[in-house]
Amino acid sequence: MDYRKRAEKLKRDLEHHNHRYYVLDDPEISDAEYDRLMRELQEIEAVHPEIRTPESPTQRVGGKPADEFGKAPHDPPMLSLGNCFSEGEFIEFDGRVKKGLSGAGGQGDLFASAAPNTYVAEPKLDGLAVEIIYENGVLVIGSTRGDGTTGEDVTANIRTVRNIPLNLAAVAKKGVKIPGRLAVRGEVVILKKDFERLNETRAAEGEPLFANPRNAAAGSLRQLDPAVTAKRPLKMFCYAPGRLEGGPATHFEFLEWLKSLGLPVGEYNRRCRDAAAVIAYYREMLDRRHLLRFDVDGTVVKVDSFALQRELGAVARAPRWATAFKFPPVQETTRVLDIVVQVGRTGAMTPVAVLEPVRVGGVEVSRATLHNQDEIDRKDVRVGDTVVIQRAGDVIPEVVKPIVEKRAGRERKFRMPDSCPECGATAERTEGEVVLRCPNPSCPAKLVEAIRHFASRRAMDIEGIGEKLAEQLVKKGLVRSAADLYGISRETWEGLDRFAEKSASNIALALEKSKGTTLKRFLFALGVRHVGEHIAGLVARYYGDIRAIMDATTADMQKIHGIGPEVAAEVEAHFKNARNRAVVEKLLAAGLSPEVEARAGTTLAGKTFVLTGALASMTRDHAKDEIEKRGGRVASAVSRKTDFVVAGSDAGSKLDKAQALGVKVLSEQDFAEMLK
Ligand code: IVH
Repeated sequence: MDYRKRAEKLKRDLEHHNHRYYVLDDPEISDAEYDRLMRELQEIEAVHPEIRTPESPTQRVGGKPADEFGKAPHDPPMLSLGNCFSEGEFIEFDGRVKKGLSGAGGQGDLFASAAPNTYVAEPKLDGLAVEIIYENGVLVIGSTRGDGTTGEDVTANIRTVRNIPLNLAAVAKKGVKIPGRLAVRGEVVILKKDFERLNETRAAEGEPLFANPRNAAAGSLRQLDPAVTAKRPLKMFCYAPGRLEGGPATHFEFLEWLKSLGLPVGEYNRRCRDAAAVIAYYREMLDRRHLLRFDVDGTVVKVDSFALQRELGAVARAPRWATAFKFPPVQETTRVLDIVVQVGRTGAMTPVAVLEPVRVGGVEVSRATLHNQDEIDRKDVRVGDTVVIQRAGDVIPEVVKPIVEKRAGRERKFRMPDSCPECGATAERTEGEVVLRCPNPSCPAKLVEAIRHFASRRAMDIEGIGEKLAEQLVKKGLVRSAADLYGISRETWEGLDRFAEKSASNIALALEKSKGTTLKRFLFALGVRHVGEHIAGLVARYYGDIRAIMDATTADMQKIHGIGPEVAAEVEAHFKNARNRAVVEKLLAAGLSPEVEARAGTTLAGKTFVLTGALASMTRDHAKDEIEKRGGRVASAVSRKTDFVVAGSDAGSKLDKAQALGVKVLSEQDFAEMLK
């Protein structure tokens, strides 16, 4: 047979057997036979390298180590989910869904008649969210969620995930048409049994153990060397569409369609006719959570109909048509060995219980927060007590209550000190607040936290500067503010404890790279109280320049949609402080030039746009930027609140809906005119 034909057949067969083994868990051939086919294909490709395509089964582990990941935009953004922590809260969610669909002109009636398939309930997988994109059946991009709008391009790593097909043509059911483009989202996880085996191997090799399957999955997928990722037992389960053109009309059918295309979809997804059926599902899953093959921290409930999903839309960064219906936190008992005081970035002094280490929901816990003195008094927690602790998802473990019956009489009550345990300054309490704060601006504990925050991934992203290094820098007197990081010499870095030449040059590179950061990250990194990532983004976009932000008044800042008086006052106070201003000046002098995001004009202030179809002169992202720059907002679905729909070529249902609702439709020319 012609070697080309033979290679094509081998590729298809290998992909097929891979699917039988990793997706269906039902192999048709032995491992030895599979290896034989693989070797044959490798040999042909070695002789005829020109037929070696990226989607060849031999190329799963073919990628070279990268220096860094590229960016991968998500369109539409990958949203997060609102939460329900009890059955009562879920019933409220159900109420909001019904209300959202029954307004004047709404599709409440349709909703009622859409039963029996009101909701789809699924396990909430505990891993890392990713998006994979296929073009003509071939996997072309795999990316992490990142901040929802932009993730990291981890295609080479995604290819190594065995249950993700590289080529749908070989695995789709007969007669199922493969779409030209398919974007699918899901979770990359490690199954519990694989996790145990992975940690056993690591223990045997003297490698540090992973705390839990989620950390292991996330760490593995973000490896720069795909060969390392390939050795980790990652699996993906698909649960949502990315940009979807055509295809099924309901979520449940969408999942079935994915299965017929050969994509991995988890088990236990169930259509539920109403809220009561969802609650029954939830209780069943809660009962069986320990029997499942993956870690779950709750269920996810979604409105089944895509049309109704669109009708409901999203608020902030979460859809109104879905919710995470969480399981109650996992509890454990242990002993309080000591209570210590931790000083945070803002000087807040927090009592922390030092615990006899115990595993809670798969993670070893040795510290738990006690919040403040009032909480300690209310719960009556003492040093030496046996206590119940709990962990809910990602949040810091906390002490729930002492088990009073276990007291032996030697337990000791705890009182918060009057002064900062780190610098000795007299602690202060703001009127009406329970928190004690260290007021000393040069308190080393605050400084350590400030440096750590400044360098953290979502702030300046200076890899290599964590808690330990920040402590060392502060202790040695090398930094008095984050700005000093940029003045540390190569020799000084190399002279630090446990610092090799290599890491010194890595830090130098990371610092250099961070100089080109965005204004949003820069502002977030400064650690102004109440200014999280989201607020930083709003302020950065509005002012467009750090000096303008430093001089902004409370009154002016409140003009920004989403900024209240408290935050505005905090920002103004921060930059009125000469010390804080000096830190910014020093950073700018060091060569930081926080990318000036376009200044907010006001021509489109308060206007909501929906983009549909393809624009000839610009990408959607670009169009969105242009609108936002001028103070407008871009929504993903058309509703009565939409001011304009910009219709490019091949505009679809959004255009129909705009016309039905009487929303003004702009052609590309109209839109360009408006931007002028
Ligand atoms: S749907 C808007 N389905 O939960 C739709 N998400 O808190 C959002 N997750 O980032 C995603 N299991 O990482 C969906 N069956 C499931 C899920 C799930 C886990 C994660 C996902 C997401 C996070 C939101």
